Amino acid sequence: MKILVENLSEEELKPLYEDPNQLGFGRIFTDRMFTMRYKKGMGWTDARIEKYKNFSFDPSSCVYHYSQEIFEGLKAYAGAEGQILLFRPEQNVKRMNRSAERLVMPTIPEEDMLQAIEELVVAEKRWIPKAPGTSMYIRPTMVATEPFLGVHPSSEYLFYIILSPVGAYYKEGFQPVKLYVEDTYVRAVVGGVGDIKTGGNYAASLLAGYKAQQMGFSQVLWLDACQHKYIEEVGSMNMFFVFGNKLVTPALTGSILPGITRASILQLAQHLGYETEERPISIDEVIEGINQGTLTEAFGSGTAAVISPVGSLYFKEKDYVINNNQVGPVTEKLYNTLVDIQYGRTVDPFGWVR
Ligand code: COI
Repeated sequence: MKILVENLSEEELKPLYEDPNQLGFGRIFTDRMFTMRYKKGMGWTDARIEKYKNFSFDPSSCVYHYSQEIFEGLKAYAGAEGQILLFRPEQNVKRMNRSAERLVMPTIPEEDMLQAIEELVVAEKRWIPKAPGTSMYIRPTMVATEPFLGVHPSSEYLFYIILSPVGAYYKEGFQPVKLYVEDTYVRAVVGGVGDIKTGGNYAASLLAGYKAQQMGFSQVLWLDACQHKYIEEVGSMNMFFVFGNKLVTPALTGSILPGITRASILQLAQHLGYETEERPISIDEVIEGINQGTLTEAFGSGTAAVISPVGSLYFKEKDYVINNNQVGPVTEKLYNTLVDIQYGRTVDPFGWVR
């Protein structure tokens, strides 16, 4: 794919962030973005790396009304020897195309999407932070731009990629969080769109998350939509429970996002000698495990936070504390090994890093 690259003059470049330890998540954006347009009959055209600026869309554009929108999230890491590392980007590319198919949006040739990510990251490499725990978050996005209010698959799309130098996603960092077990609202249903990355899933999760935060919790633990019994996800992450030497995570039933960090943790855990299970896990089993001391640790996993330890669950007006509200050894081992691979600090036995 031919990508037109806009050169920016010195005056057009933004000043870099001042303190890489104060980046937070997703508020700072680099000088340039990647854009590409789609029109039915013409396919994808006009690939360019251009100045980061506002878009101008017709107010009737499909995306504003019927949410035909998908996105991805991955990270670029500054390696110790000056290399730029991407973690399993081909998996994000594949998932983006699966999301596109589910919302009747056009797919993008995998090699083109990868090329766009890589060329943009290289063009913007001065923005990749080097401080411990920092990285550059990459957000590929596709929106439906046809100006028409009929409910139908848009005939026009914009695909773009923006970059954001980031630190920790949660203000807690790698500290145990308090969860509220949500037994009223649900995140997604089997047969719906919970297993793809579309903005509507996150919009639908806001009220429960907001209410939980008002009550002093960090996140909600989602239960399944039919029986309000089986664990689904935590906040916007996949969920793991540790029973001694065994890791258990909910099976991908169709309403759970197939996280790339989730899949990597499963593979890494097996490599490190833990047993793993993907199966339905009920809230009753979790509570019983905590009460009996067989459930020893719990954590969420996602690209943004990588691993987020869970310190307690609040369910039916009772608090259940896990591992004395401390980060457990299995969680810590998996976290350290995974981030060491991501930053190129250790051998990558899986060929994940590019
Ligand atoms: C992730 O864990 O990477 C997420 O899905 C959160 C993201 C939407 C900011």
